[in-house]
Amino acid sequence: MPQATFNFPAGFLWGAATAAHQVEGGNTNNNWAAWEAEPGRILNGDRSGLACDWWGGRWKEDLDRAAETGQNAHRMSIEWSRVQPTPDHWDEDALDHYREIMRGMLARGLTPMVTLHHFTDPLWFYNQGGWELENAPELFEKYVSRVVEALKEYVSLWVTINEPNVYVVSGYTGTDFPPGKGDMNAAFTVLRNLVRGHAAAYQAIKRIQKNSVVGIAVNYRSFKPACAASPFDSLLARFLHNSYNDSFTRALKTGELHFAAKHVAVPEAAGTQDFIGVNYYTRDLVRFAPLASRDLFMKRFFPKDALLSPTGFIAHVPDGMFEALRWANGYGLPIYITENGVEDAADELRPRYLVEHLHQVWRAANFNFPIKGYFHWSLVDNFEWERGWSQRFGLWGLDIQTQARIRRRSVDLYAEICRQNAISS
Ligand code: NOJ
Repeated sequence: MPQATFNFPAGFLWGAATAAHQVEGGNTNNNWAAWEAEPGRILNGDRSGLACDWWGGRWKEDLDRAAETGQNAHRMSIEWSRVQPTPDHWDEDALDHYREIMRGMLARGLTPMVTLHHFTDPLWFYNQGGWELENAPELFEKYVSRVVEALKEYVSLWVTINEPNVYVVSGYTGTDFPPGKGDMNAAFTVLRNLVRGHAAAYQAIKRIQKNSVVGIAVNYRSFKPACAASPFDSLLARFLHNSYNDSFTRALKTGELHFAAKHVAVPEAAGTQDFIGVNYYTRDLVRFAPLASRDLFMKRFFPKDALLSPTGFIAHVPDGMFEALRWANGYGLPIYITENGVEDAADELRPRYLVEHLHQVWRAANFNFPIKGYFHWSLVDNFEWERGWSQRFGLWGLDIQTQARIRRRSVDLYAEICRQNAISS
């Protein structure tokens, strides 16, 4: 017998999130396809390959699964290199394909949330310099306009750019994502151009669709001082929060972009977000350590008593979700949890992770934070970027040899939550 029921607000969106390159398969014309082909870039030499074969039509069976298990929304992304394979060719068949998926979602009672950029760039764009290009924002705006024109009768909830902070930190200050630059100046240029690109896309979407709701999804990482009494550790945690979590959304509010010690005005970005999208997974403790080699002047580790996901990638720290939502609430805008989940092939931690994170979402909703929906990452196991197939985030597992889906026990748990619009303890 459940002891207590924690109800969510009426009309709450319950779904899962996916991204084009991670599920479609057969993407050969983007920067990730090129990156995967380079030796040593992806763990175990894995490739996205057929992925979950959504391009081949398996989106239908997966969206059936979502709808049959109580979900009422789905977040997915559009692959730019499919829609615009070369600078002067728009692929109408690709747009039709996405239109068909949107109709498929609506027919299944799933409200679509559509992401326009989820880490991948078309090769033609990437090879010219990608987001370092001065005219990257205009090129992005053209693509966005085309997509929004094509999908506007089905979709009004848009994420322009997924995790611009991860895109920049992994590909430009760091080396895990293409182009693996490891160059702070390039990183700042890219960040600025992503802000400009978002602003241009925002205005274009609003021109095409007056009732659209447009935002970004930020990767929110909880940073806490390893030693609460240390002013250095506290300052470091604050610095990381400001640069990593807050810089992009702050720029979209104020038109001022601050990142690390850098600053630039981007006035056209001020007031260009209708909601805050939060991707929350985990927390780091940080210690100021001027001689540490890995991160130059700090050490970063997980809270020592936290449960870890099987590959040690995620520490289970649910109160970080509340912290993330309190931060988002500071913007006074509606909030979506655009991603939250854990890699866990055996589905041992996931049920607990799910319920305990949702409990924090419920708490936040009861503080009247305007939380509108939750998208679990992910519906089905998919290609996990530089970590390949080693991490399994799906409610359903995937056998990449046979394309068989494996129903994990979290499916039933999440179904009950979605159907009841509540969690029980
Ligand atoms: C965030 C990213 O948006 C998504 O692509 C990725 O698979 C998940 N986090 C899990 O790492």
